Amino acid sequence: MSSGKSTILVTGGAGYIGSHTVLALKQAGYNVVILDNLVYGHRDLVEKVLEVELIVGDTGDRPLLDRLFQTHDIEAVMHFSAYAYVGESVTDPAKYYRNNVLGTLTLLEAMLAASVKKFVFSSTCATYGVPEFVPIPETHPQNPINPYGASKLMVERILADFDVAYGFKSVRFRYFNAAGANPDGLLGEDHNPETHLIPLVLLTALGKRESISIFGTDYPTPDGTCIRDYIHVNDLADAHILGLEYLLKGGNSEVFNLGNGSGFSVREVIAAVEAVTGVPIPVEERDRRPGDPPNLIGASEKARTTLGWQPQYTSIKDIVAHAWQWHQQRHHSI
Ligand SMILES: NC(=O)c1ccc[n+]([C@@H]2O[C@H](COP(=O)([O-])OP(=O)(O)OC[C@H]3O[C@@H](n4cnc5c(N)ncnc54)[C@H](O)[C@@H]3O)[C@@H](O)[C@H]2O)c1
Repeated sequence: MSSGKSTILVTGGAGYIGSHTVLALKQAGYNVVILDNLVYGHRDLVEKVLEVELIVGDTGDRPLLDRLFQTHDIEAVMHFSAYAYVGESVTDPAKYYRNNVLGTLTLLEAMLAASVKKFVFSSTCATYGVPEFVPIPETHPQNPINPYGASKLMVERILADFDVAYGFKSVRFRYFNAAGANPDGLLGEDHNPETHLIPLVLLTALGKRESISIFGTDYPTPDGTCIRDYIHVNDLADAHILGLEYLLKGGNSEVFNLGNGSGFSVREVIAAVEAVTGVPIPVEERDRRPGDPPNLIGASEKARTTLGWQPQYTSIKDIVAHAWQWHQQRHHSI
């Protein structure tokens, strides 16, 4: 549907966070074009739910990008596409640097050639590495401990240099753990393979997995399990609209954490799933995994004060309830 508002290119818009943001963009009146190679994205969600133009292609394909910018009047780019499996990034770093760094650089060069200089980037709390203190502010040192986090930090650095050299304006969002699903049940998280805690526990509740492993029960946290900051995917989508509008109004390049501000332990997440689904979850207690910090919580005041961001769904029960609704529907329809 065409409107008086700008056209936004969304890379990775067929994926989890990208698809929720495309819906929010449409609801805010923007025209949207998705570029996704569908390695992990879902064509059915784009066609049946989002109903926007999907260009199936790769951010590393410069001729495709040049054609795309010539044929569409793109005002800004939201860049979600990347590989994001931490473990795989350790065993196959080349794959991560090629896609997350080279693919992004190719996109940025095509944008420069087309004089499109507004960019919203999906970075990650993994750029901080093992935190020296929590809550983690944006000024915390960035010492990633895996190639995935390093690849995102490299792009952050490229963006800072592009601003100095070319006046290229970016909002870099460092997300904590994206979770939940659109409350209407039409969109949600569908990674394959799945590695995130909430969907894994929900898949256990659905009988798709036998049990859930808890890695480490002797951490210095109230119940001994790791604490993470879960941020609802719709709240992430809202932040992206605010970040985009900040840039469209001429805002300077900035970096913002996006987190809930409070964390939940692995046991609290499992208890929330049991309460929401009514299904007891079998757990297996295992040793700690190397590189898992006890407590990862972000300080997100900057996004609240600068962008006026107000997360709506901060309770773990809401996050789990929305994800549960999606998982039940998704697993009955496929
Ligand atoms: N999920 C989280 O908790 C989380 C946390 C921090 C940061 N992030 C970042 O947010 C972004 C989105 O994450 P997600 O969970 O929605 O992942 P996702 O895998 O669901 O979505 C990524 C999408 O990008 C597409 N893609 C990958 N490489 C591509 C390429 N070269 N060209 C075109 N399309 C490509 C995939 O097909 C997929 O649809 C990623 O950049 C990720 O690193 C996610």
